[in-house]
Amino acid sequence: MDLFSAIDTEPVRQRMEQLAAELDRLNHEYYMNDRSLVSDEEFDRMMRELQDLERQYPELASPLSPTKRVGGEVNRSFRQVEHRFPMLSLGNTYSIEEIEDFEARTRKLLDGTPFSYTCELKYDGVAIGLTYRHGRLVQAVTRGNGTVGDDITTNAKTIPTIPLTLRGDYPDDFEARGEVVYPFDAFEAMNRQREAEGDEPFANPRNAASGSLKLQDSAECAKRKLMFCMYFMMGPDEAALPDTHAGRLEWARQMGFKVQPYIQECKDIHEIKAFIDHWDRARFDLPFGIDGIVIKVNQTPLWDRLGLTAKSPRWAIAFKFKAERVSTPLESISYQVGRTGIVTPVANLSPVWLGGTTVRRATLVNADFIRKMDICVGDHLLIEKGGEIIPKVVGVDMERRQPGAMPVQYVTRCPECGTPLVRLEGEAGSYCPNSDGCHPQIIGRLEHFVGRKAMDIESLGPERLELLYSAGLVHNVADLYDLRREQLIGLGADATIQDRSADNLLAAIEASKQVPFERVVFALGIRYVGEVGAKKLARYFKNMDALMAATADELAQVEDVGEVTARAVSEWFAAPEHRQIVERLRAAGLQMSGQWAAAGGVLDGMTLVVSGVFDHFSRDEIKADIERHGGKVSGSVSGKTSFLVAGDKMGPEKRQKAVKLGVQIITEQQYLDMVNGQA
Ligand code: IVH
Repeated sequence: MDLFSAIDTEPVRQRMEQLAAELDRLNHEYYMNDRSLVSDEEFDRMMRELQDLERQYPELASPLSPTKRVGGEVNRSFRQVEHRFPMLSLGNTYSIEEIEDFEARTRKLLDGTPFSYTCELKYDGVAIGLTYRHGRLVQAVTRGNGTVGDDITTNAKTIPTIPLTLRGDYPDDFEARGEVVYPFDAFEAMNRQREAEGDEPFANPRNAASGSLKLQDSAECAKRKLMFCMYFMMGPDEAALPDTHAGRLEWARQMGFKVQPYIQECKDIHEIKAFIDHWDRARFDLPFGIDGIVIKVNQTPLWDRLGLTAKSPRWAIAFKFKAERVSTPLESISYQVGRTGIVTPVANLSPVWLGGTTVRRATLVNADFIRKMDICVGDHLLIEKGGEIIPKVVGVDMERRQPGAMPVQYVTRCPECGTPLVRLEGEAGSYCPNSDGCHPQIIGRLEHFVGRKAMDIESLGPERLELLYSAGLVHNVADLYDLRREQLIGLGADATIQDRSADNLLAAIEASKQVPFERVVFALGIRYVGEVGAKKLARYFKNMDALMAATADELAQVEDVGEVTARAVSEWFAAPEHRQIVERLRAAGLQMSGQWAAAGGVLDGMTLVVSGVFDHFSRDEIKADIERHGGKVSGSVSGKTSFLVAGDKMGPEKRQKAVKLGVQIITEQQYLDMVNGQA
């Protein structure tokens, strides 16, 4: 830069710095101290001004600018990075006796040295580590398998409670660890919006937090209103940090981290128990989820003396809360009929407050479940909600059972069409066999067929399908491909389908003919054949003719296809009306074979090394799986290795070698995504 342009841009640089500092201050006051110092409009105006300047003068933009909070950068993939310090987990227990043992053992090991404990909340979210150098955030990494995690820095920058630059005094180089949690109110609002937009809601705030950190679009992550709760500080130079855990967290708070105030120094087991007791009840008033209490030795110089066990430190332990349980009257049972005719009983409960939400309904699964639980008319049911947000019926509150209560009589006829229900041998559920005449089944099948994960005919929502069905135009999925423009125009109560929407609809139907074969298999809606099962069947048989001709025994050879599914598939294809539908779909031009028909597996020509312990597979299973997909398995890392699949407790030599040779290290999940075609 020459002298003149340096002078030219100086006022701009100053203005940008001033805006950044002011926005940082306002953010801090808002998120850390709950104080709003300016109106939202004023805040947005400043943010926009800074964004505009950064666009005009990109060379002056800071990578830690508060504009990063809004996101906008796209994560192409999440680079795998090795943790500088392994991310250990904690020993955990549900039993107070084990906490007493932990306390007694610690006291004994420390042999008269004075010390204390800290008790704090065990946040139910996703663990991440943040590296700060010279007071600036340089990297954010998920826990991963403890050794290697995903670099999620861009998304982490959008979380307002993660400081981008630190205030006051700070160690020159350290890592801040904590949990990214999804506060309940933001979680529920986001899930409601997802449902409104036809997206699958997240099962619980933890999954939602984890999914949000992996979003490709950081602007989307910025909208998620995640929160970071810091719980740990470490660094290459321990002497640069305070010598108590509580002192470290207090310092972190002054640097600008969100450190929850619920941390207490406890001198003995009585105080620890009192803390646990308090939070076992008070946890339901928190705006975010916790699943226990973490107890740590407060004096950090004692940590070394206590040392580590195989995978967790001996100076800390987690006490986990049991799932919360309530008892509430069963008011009635509804029976829902799904697209495959399966009947699901649902308990209508007297509304009850449980773990942050009101519960009104819970599934009773099937007739067997009701019988095994011995549920009687007028019973109070015990409902539990653990980490999962979905409430479960776990039993009957026997103390409140009425004398002479009669067992629930399960329906024998379809609640929708009156047909006697059928129960197949070896299957727990009963179903309505009237697949062609039972309304929820007909509409359900059509809805499934056009769904996003199936044929993805977006313009056909449930209402339109009802409309086409009641107009007598569409009774089964093949009828969709016979629709003509003139049949559509003027349909609907106020003739809602006009030229444009008729054309759009026909175009969407036409486009669905390009949907790959595996999704066509899924779209057929065969009982028990989910997205993954359909993919496996499609890849194994490669085309519709082979799939249709397969016997139940042959079908059961396919990985993840059990006997019950195999039988359902062969019976489905045995029915002449189904064969006829398939033939009509074929004639319409849908994909009836996969492009891997000629090629081998996805790992053709690759050599993989596996190391450590896996969640989905045993060692032998993952090796067999690699070979099934065309890959070779080797015992040691070399220049020819395509991937090192890293499990938990992977040996350090393999990792070092892979890093040295530039071999890509992938997690088990990435492996699964790769062979299942998502990578
Ligand atoms: S301390 C070496 N403190 O629980 C000790 N962990 O197995 C590091 N967690 O994955 C952990 N709240 O993500 C600590 N207040 C807290 C915590 C906490 C939640 C998570 C953590 C870890 C797991 C322990």
